[in-house]
Amino acid sequence: MSTGVFYVTTPIYYVNDVPHLGHAYTTVAADFIARFRRMQGRQVWFLTGTDEHGQKILRTAEERGLTPIEWTDSIVPRWTEVWEALQITNDDFIRTTEARHEGPVARFVQDLYDKGEIYLGTYEGLYCVQCEAFYTPEDLVDGKCPQHGTEPELIKEDNYFFRLSKYVDALIERYETNERAIMPEVRRNEILGKLRQGLEDLSISRVSFDWGVKLPMDPSHVIYVWVDALQNYTTAVGYGSDEERFALVWPADIHFVGKDILWFHSVIWPAMLMAQGLPLPETVYAHGFLQVGGEKMSKSKATGISPHDLMETFGSDGYRYYFMREISFGQDGSFSWESMVERYNFDLANDLGNLCQRVISMIGRYLDGVVPQVPSYDEIRDEDESLRAAFDKALEQMSAAVDDISPTEALKACWGAVRRANAYVEEVAPWALAKDPEQRRRLEVVLYNLAEGLRNLALMTSPITPRAAAELWRRLGLSGEVTDATFEMMGFGTLAPGTRLEAGDPLFPRIEAG
Ligand code: MSP
Repeated sequence: MSTGVFYVTTPIYYVNDVPHLGHAYTTVAADFIARFRRMQGRQVWFLTGTDEHGQKILRTAEERGLTPIEWTDSIVPRWTEVWEALQITNDDFIRTTEARHEGPVARFVQDLYDKGEIYLGTYEGLYCVQCEAFYTPEDLVDGKCPQHGTEPELIKEDNYFFRLSKYVDALIERYETNERAIMPEVRRNEILGKLRQGLEDLSISRVSFDWGVKLPMDPSHVIYVWVDALQNYTTAVGYGSDEERFALVWPADIHFVGKDILWFHSVIWPAMLMAQGLPLPETVYAHGFLQVGGEKMSKSKATGISPHDLMETFGSDGYRYYFMREISFGQDGSFSWESMVERYNFDLANDLGNLCQRVISMIGRYLDGVVPQVPSYDEIRDEDESLRAAFDKALEQMSAAVDDISPTEALKACWGAVRRANAYVEEVAPWALAKDPEQRRRLEVVLYNLAEGLRNLALMTSPITPRAAAELWRRLGLSGEVTDATFEMMGFGTLAPGTRLEAGDPLFPRIEAG
């Protein structure tokens, strides 16, 4: 992991349509990691955006009788609005139609041409507009695109080519020796397998349409949309416009991508960077697909569900938690309404929500809603010690899981602490202590510990369920925003005696199945 700015990205999304659950999946994962790193005190830069050039977008606009920019201007707000609703904390949003991107992209390609890395040739072959990708006949399944099941188009054009084949050995060497360069491991092995079959040079320009960045040395060509799009990661942080900023933020720590676009990110992109002598991203993480009926969820197959449809019922917190917890990150997984209701009710409404409700209401009932004196060293018993230890351990495990880019494991670890806190309530039975005046101080000690447990949980859950964490923070009478706090504030003993807690409605109201 680099020590400077922690730079995390999502792919930039094609704006031929509105976002569906599959797109939100990548973005929520990146947001969870970004928030977690901020809570660790890291300086974070989190980028997302939109991919607006190329034939696919051009055709979408034409079908609607609009110019491409009219179309993209009209649809981009549908994307930014979903990210806001999902509480995504991106620091920047880049559109490939912005001048800060287009200028540096043109210069980058011209520069490669000047260095002899690009040459003019003829491309004859197959192209899938949906993927915006070139295919060989061997790549196809029954003559159709393996991703979309549609027949690719035959094109024959004079194109500029990038000397991609030159980089095959350097890429193999990198992936053989660097376990974190592509994660998870199974994906690294897949890419290595393909690389060992060799690489061909890549066509990087198109002449049959003009929706894209024009090649400076030959403006009758536009730059291939992937060569344009991949550069968003560098142009957004100052490449070609603010070199000081670029040096500070680049390279990216993690590029999050779906497994369908790993090739572009782990072969084409690093080769482009090598050709320019720029540092390579630390990790490209390829996650699996959200599936419906065993197939990748997609708009083109009419299985794309809008995140808004689920947020209406589960809220943004329920949404974020479900996808990160239920589908083992890295693997494919299916979404179902039933499993979502179940996860929400068990983990959020019962385990976490009830715990918060119970603790705050017991402090209300037995201590007039006020935090008691901090327990002294000799008031701490074994069960209190093991509660504290459970929080230390959970944070440690969460941090290790985040280093491994495993949000699912991080959440399992966090809920380990939630369950321990629930078990503690049963063990120490504050309601029994409350009946015996001689146990008054013990009652105060256990309720203090539980209030501290909630404070720790607000910190630990804020990367995944930020709304509830913020509300819990407020109910605990804590100042500032939980998102401005860091894990340095974990531990027991800092909640100030005399603080007044506030009761309220359940943080996660139960959802009735059906
Ligand atoms: N525009 C390119 C990316 C360029 S990045 C320099 C693109 N866009 S996309 O909108 O088609 O897809 C963006 C991301 O959404 C990809 O990571 C893709 O894997 C992800 N998903 C789209 N459908 C998905 C599922 N059903 N499940 C999980 N993620 C999938 O590709």
